[in-house]
Amino acid sequence: MWRRSKTAHPFINKRRYMNKLNFLCSAILLAGCGGNQQPVTATAETTTAIAAGLLPNPDSFRDTVDGLTTGLYFLHNGNLTAAITNYGARVVSLIVPDRNGNPTDVVLGYDSIGKYIHQPDTYFGAIVGRYGNRIGQAKFKLNGKEYTLYKNNGPNTLHGGKKGFDAVVWTARKLDTATLRLTYLSKDGEEGYPGNLNVTVIYTLDSNGLRIDYDATTDKPTVLNLTNHSYFNLNGQGSGTINNHLLQLYADHYTPVDSTLIPTGKVEPVAGTPFDFTKPTTIGGRVDDTANQQIKFGKGYDHNFMLLNSIADEPSNLPAAIATGDLSGIVMSVYTDQPGIQFYGGNFMAGTNPLKAGKTDGYRTAFCLETQHFPNSPNEPSFPSTTLKAGEKYVSWTFFKFSTK
Ligand code: BGC
Repeated sequence: MWRRSKTAHPFINKRRYMNKLNFLCSAILLAGCGGNQQPVTATAETTTAIAAGLLPNPDSFRDTVDGLTTGLYFLHNGNLTAAITNYGARVVSLIVPDRNGNPTDVVLGYDSIGKYIHQPDTYFGAIVGRYGNRIGQAKFKLNGKEYTLYKNNGPNTLHGGKKGFDAVVWTARKLDTATLRLTYLSKDGEEGYPGNLNVTVIYTLDSNGLRIDYDATTDKPTVLNLTNHSYFNLNGQGSGTINNHLLQLYADHYTPVDSTLIPTGKVEPVAGTPFDFTKPTTIGGRVDDTANQQIKFGKGYDHNFMLLNSIADEPSNLPAAIATGDLSGIVMSVYTDQPGIQFYGGNFMAGTNPLKAGKTDGYRTAFCLETQHFPNSPNEPSFPSTTLKAGEKYVSWTFFKFSTK
């Protein structure tokens, strides 16, 4: 039942050429050809894009953290541009054209490394690990041995613990204009997890979207659940509520949670509940239906959905999710080989963080679609396994594809 799709990502759709981003085509300097982080120098064109407020200034990302150099790397392909920092392997900016061709930054982020380090933890754009989402009571057993983790979310551990992969400096290498490889060695015992874990994340900007490839190996059995924690607003970051976005999730079951957001272990149908997004539905339509206990526990949507593609008898190439910005017409289709997706509707956002371009992160002004294995899987034998053994290779991919309507 829990079969996982082995399909390669199938999207090579050609998209219309849209002129308004053209100046960015030549604007992006290829940063980094060496083995470690290369400081990025802005070209005249990049400077123009920065001055136009479309891209953060790479100077603001040059720093030394834990003795390692941080920087900002630009990827470019056709009408799409991404800015990624090696601090937390975070997507800082993702610029796509709206229905009128206007370049629109669809992810929330900060304009300096200092803010990523010092603002309260939001995981904006980060690669989350070793374990994306929660592990109940911050402990798990593997091969009879109990491992104790850091409780950073009530009684539970969340997103890797005290200092997860979102808060470490990755080694970055630009492979070509559209591809950035990031690697990180998480040492045996780091944050309580066993095994030296070598992780690689490759961001590739396709002509129509951002692909993320993950792989990892360990020298001892461990648990692993990697995801990307981008906060999206398809009308543009900081442009107000996401409650009028349309969302379709290719999932007819989800994993209900207890009051601390740990799955109960049950898998329940979405039919007849506010969790039914099997047809395109506004995010905000039922988000405050507090007669529903799951909505109460999540303070809105903060739940894992079980993806149809992962349980299809044959690989079906179904998306995981499709979201549409009501004002921009930007459509984001998410594809993945993972069995689940965490739909988080920004319920804990409070407008206290200063985003790029002078915006703030108001309540429910962004959503996350985190492709993943299910939360608390190490303690839930009925869920697809998240154990990685020595000698095995963890491989996973997710593709965020953009179009307009
Ligand atoms: C979690 C939320 C959490 C958010 C930011 C999501 O993946 O499920 O509960 O508030 O990340 O940390």
